[in-house]
Amino acid sequence: MVAINSSDDDSVKMPLLAGLLSHAQEGYMSCHTPGHKQGLGSLAEWRQLLGEMVFQLDLTELPGLDNLHDAQGIIGGAQRAAADYFGAKETFFLVNGTSAGILAVLLAECLTKSKVLLPRTSHQTVIHGLILCGAQPVYLPVESDAALGLPGAVRTADLEKALATLDEQALVVLLHPNYYGLAGEIRQQVAAAHQHNCTVLVDEAHGAHFKTSPFFPMPALRAGADYAAQGAHKVLGSFTQSAYLHCQGEHDLDAIRDALRIVQSSSPSYLLLASLDVARYQCEQEEGQWEMAVRQVGQLRQRISQIDGVLAPGDEMLQVPGVAEYDPTRLVINVRELGITGFTAAEWLRRECGILVEMADFQNLILILGPANDIEDMEKLYQALSSMAGACAGGSLSDRSILPDPLQLPIPTQVLTPREAYFAPHTLVPWDAALGKTAAEVIAPYPPGVPVICPGEKIGEEAIGFLREWETAGGVWPGKSRGLIKIAAGS
Ligand SMILES: Cc1ncc(COP(=O)(O)O)c(C=O)c1O
Repeated sequence: MVAINSSDDDSVKMPLLAGLLSHAQEGYMSCHTPGHKQGLGSLAEWRQLLGEMVFQLDLTELPGLDNLHDAQGIIGGAQRAAADYFGAKETFFLVNGTSAGILAVLLAECLTKSKVLLPRTSHQTVIHGLILCGAQPVYLPVESDAALGLPGAVRTADLEKALATLDEQALVVLLHPNYYGLAGEIRQQVAAAHQHNCTVLVDEAHGAHFKTSPFFPMPALRAGADYAAQGAHKVLGSFTQSAYLHCQGEHDLDAIRDALRIVQSSSPSYLLLASLDVARYQCEQEEGQWEMAVRQVGQLRQRISQIDGVLAPGDEMLQVPGVAEYDPTRLVINVRELGITGFTAAEWLRRECGILVEMADFQNLILILGPANDIEDMEKLYQALSSMAGACAGGSLSDRSILPDPLQLPIPTQVLTPREAYFAPHTLVPWDAALGKTAAEVIAPYPPGVPVICPGEKIGEEAIGFLREWETAGGVWPGKSRGLIKIAAGS
């Protein structure tokens, strides 16, 4: 454990944290925001619960503490240290998640009606970015593996086909990896996009740790991506909402700065920012621990697959369409042979064993594991899964071979851009009345969060049929409870 203080040494290792500590030691009288005045004005019990230091470091743009939106001092130093470590030309700290980085790149790189190539499996934040910037989506197909119940990645051939139809420069957005840790041919796809003069943004929300070891899929920056947005909070030790946007190549980074001012707070949390500085330092120091995690999860994967009715796929996942690599610390556990859904398995583990997984779907459990999980956790997981298999085997779903799969849906006809549809006068109609109309909202049942309907596209009967099937299967999505779909009026 390193001693953290404001010494010269720490200001080199973690410049932002050291600057905050040094400020705290000055003992200034606080006549500025935040209103808790470094804890003096906070509820005593709250202060006691969180600890004094949380309040002392929850600072703002004071003399010597720099400004995220024009970082020249301690924030600039911390961002440069991150850029050096991750191999970027420049890194921006984000306090509004990976989402902020993705939105900023779309705002900076796209013109109204310019084209954006993106997988249909993109996270909703990419669609939100299209609403903000007014660009036109060109959806790239993604297929799934029905037996494993896993969504794949964009195939290079499909990307090349879409690139060949372009008559202008476009932005290409790639998802690397998906929520299940599955990654496509990133290097080839970045190269193909560059050959067509396209800029590449990689949504690497789940891959901030890829830099630590060659056992992980190739990091997007190493593959040549122009931008990589990484959710440091998802896998590294930084606080929730904190993320990195890495940039390389010749791009107008002032445009990115301007866009970040639009999508981020003018009062960013210094706790979040400092946690990004610490997370980078920790990653740098503890790369070997990620390799250890790879080994431990690999052994656990093999043991789990010996339990009757349970499969923790490893290299089998390389058969999933478009997949070339996978994150060995993202543990996917298929429970289909037990005759139960992933949802049931997740609930059983929570109730009976006090284990919370990251996500479940109809067939799988998805667990995010890493250096924080020790060998005892691995044993506990194995024992819990063995008990679950014993208790749940012979469930009633065992003969159900076909589950609703949003990736089987055809890509619908786009009649308006997402922005035009979002800002058009709209109306709410029952599902049946929405058939053939133009959608004005994103409908993305979660999991897997793949959009079934996006703004600006014609609502087909396949989409409505899918939503019915999904509802019957117990699926949910934001807006479902109102039982209506938002469509562009008069469409
Ligand atoms: C693939 C992907 N991209 C982007 C995001 C958005 O990230 P954040 O929640 O950090 O804004 C998520 C969040 O789950 C995600 O899974």
